[in-house]
Amino acid sequence: MIKLNNIVKVYNPKKANEFEALHKVSAEIQDGELVAIIGRSGAGKSTLLHILACIDSYQDGEYSIDGTLIKNLSERQYAKIRNEKIGMVMQDFALVEDLTALENVMIPLNFSKKKIKGKKEKALAALRSAGIEELAKKPCNKLSGGQKQRVAIARAIVNEPSMILADEPTGALDTKTSAEIMELFKTLNEQGRTVVIVTHDMNVAEQCGRVIEIIDGRIAGS
Ligand SMILES: Nc1ncnc2c1ncn2[C@@H]1O[C@H](COP(=O)(O)OP(=O)(O)OP(=O)(O)O)[C@@H](O)[C@H]1O
Ligand SMILES: [Mg+2]
Repeated sequence: MIKLNNIVKVYNPKKANEFEALHKVSAEIQDGELVAIIGRSGAGKSTLLHILACIDSYQDGEYSIDGTLIKNLSERQYAKIRNEKIGMVMQDFALVEDLTALENVMIPLNFSKKKIKGKKEKALAALRSAGIEELAKKPCNKLSGGQKQRVAIARAIVNEPSMILADEPTGALDTKTSAEIMELFKTLNEQGRTVVIVTHDMNVAEQCGRVIEIIDGRIAGS
């Protein structure tokens, strides 16, 4: 379970351009939930998602995953949590364009400190879960937007994280492809993973079990 308690995020603290992007944000996400985070541009959605993903820090409050407080950890401990618990689907896919789909999905496995048996098989299984095993050997610069998004999702799930976080995963896709990607997230959720999706798209939000709205760095209604 994820627990945020009065999280404060300040960009450029104590500088002239100091900006408080999150003001005492509290929220809980239970295991197995499918949650949308919505809000206007600049509201703080990506900021919140980056904190959830343990790739950004916060100044005040508490964030815990499964009871572990995510603060002042060593770089190694952060890496371990990211590797074991979190699969992140970045905005704009963030793939290495001239590597193949399979090579992209293998990247997190090669990062991992522990020896992973059958890396290629694991990556192929992730591609299969994302519905594109047959594209394994294609370079990513030859794939469509929807196919790239599936590679990004395969890469996010290859370490079998308990939680998938996605930043605007349908933002760059046409309506039909968006619907297909949303079906994939729903399937991954039904298989037991917690899924958190930042979105502008009300169609996407409506398909989630719960919607958290952020207005100017605050959770709406709190
Ligand atoms: N690195 C940064 N330094 C300073 N301010 C930042 C930084 N990143 C974000 N901000 C500011 O924090 C606020 C929240 O940004 P954030 O990226 O979380 O918004 P968002 O809700 O994801 O917006 P969008 O829908 O446009 O992606 C914005 O006002 C933004 O300008
Ligand atoms: Mg954003």
